[in-house]
Amino acid sequence: MTIRWGILGAGKIASKWAADLPLAGNATLQAVWARDSSKAGDFASRFGNPEVCATADDLLHHPEVDAVYVATPHMLHAPGARACLEAGKPVLVEKPFGLNRAEADSIALLARSRGILCMEALWTRFLPSFQTALDLVGSGRIGEVRNVVADFGFVAPQDPSSRLWDPRSGGGSLLDIGIYPLFLARSFLGNPDRVASVCQRSTTGVDASCRVDLAWLGGQSASLHSTLVESTPCMAVIEGESGRIVLERMFHIPTTVVVHDANGSERIPPPAGGHGYEHEIRHFGECLGQGLRESPLWSLSDSLDLSLLMDRVQEAWQ
Ligand SMILES: NC(=O)c1ccc[n+]([C@@H]2O[C@H](COP(=O)([O-])OP(=O)(O)OC[C@H]3O[C@@H](n4cnc5c(N)ncnc54)[C@H](OP(=O)(O)O)[C@@H]3O)[C@@H](O)[C@H]2O)c1
Repeated sequence: MTIRWGILGAGKIASKWAADLPLAGNATLQAVWARDSSKAGDFASRFGNPEVCATADDLLHHPEVDAVYVATPHMLHAPGARACLEAGKPVLVEKPFGLNRAEADSIALLARSRGILCMEALWTRFLPSFQTALDLVGSGRIGEVRNVVADFGFVAPQDPSSRLWDPRSGGGSLLDIGIYPLFLARSFLGNPDRVASVCQRSTTGVDASCRVDLAWLGGQSASLHSTLVESTPCMAVIEGESGRIVLERMFHIPTTVVVHDANGSERIPPPAGGHGYEHEIRHFGECLGQGLRESPLWSLSDSLDLSLLMDRVQEAWQ
């Protein structure tokens, strides 16, 4: 089954995603909408000339659009996703699923009540390198996981109007990039029992950086860091009782996985491919083809839990 996609938004991530779409093998680009029609036109000319819709509503009700990818800034994810579901369209929603758990809930409730496939575009979940790490842990290669360390930081230009710094756009490091270390820790250790965090505020009032310490009653822990004011290694280490797995820079994209155990070290490079978005695109199409309403790999409950975790981190800053 080939999914005919429509995209809301024609910015940076939409471009990378559209570039990878042909690699998915089960997807074509049917239509695009952006608030600036000249930007949408330019986007269309770069990606095979899909139809440029005059309004978002036109795209949502387009009879030849099978699924919609919401690629607008954070604060538009929940309204965009709900509009897709109201129009009866399956929807892939960029991360974060919503600005907070309440917004995420509003999407999940609607998706479940309508029985329409809806998934957060937590693309790292679908990468072969991430799956390799999950499989290595599952095979017992490093024993029980005891600690996760992960960071994601880069120096973002100090432009207060940029979505990264603007509080009205859901700016700050946590929702934009801190979500990845949290996702990683939760993937290997589950939802934490204790959440501690401190943040450094920007002049615009969002978190320029934040450090998060998670703890589990079984003694497991995670130390996580995200920042928009520092270039950090962007690596992840999953420490087990008898070894460790390193996801090399950048840990959230297709990357080399190194496993260290009693027998030495093994490096597992990523397979050739695009930016890596083809995996989530293919997975979403397969779910749709199978008539699934939620992804078995990244369910609505996963998105809700991650959203709640980010709420808990922010509560710790008060
Ligand atoms: N999965 C990933 O790897 C990844 C990577 C980067 C970003 N993201 C996510 O993708 C989302 C977009 O990020 P981006 O870097 O692509 O941002 P971006 O380059 O600013 O693009 C955002 C798009 O939304 C449009 N937009 C902005 N404000 C709008 C409004 N009020 N009404 C309608 N459209 C509006 C922009 O239009 P204009 O061009 O006219 O401003 C642009 O088309 C973010 O939520 C981010 O978390 C995901």
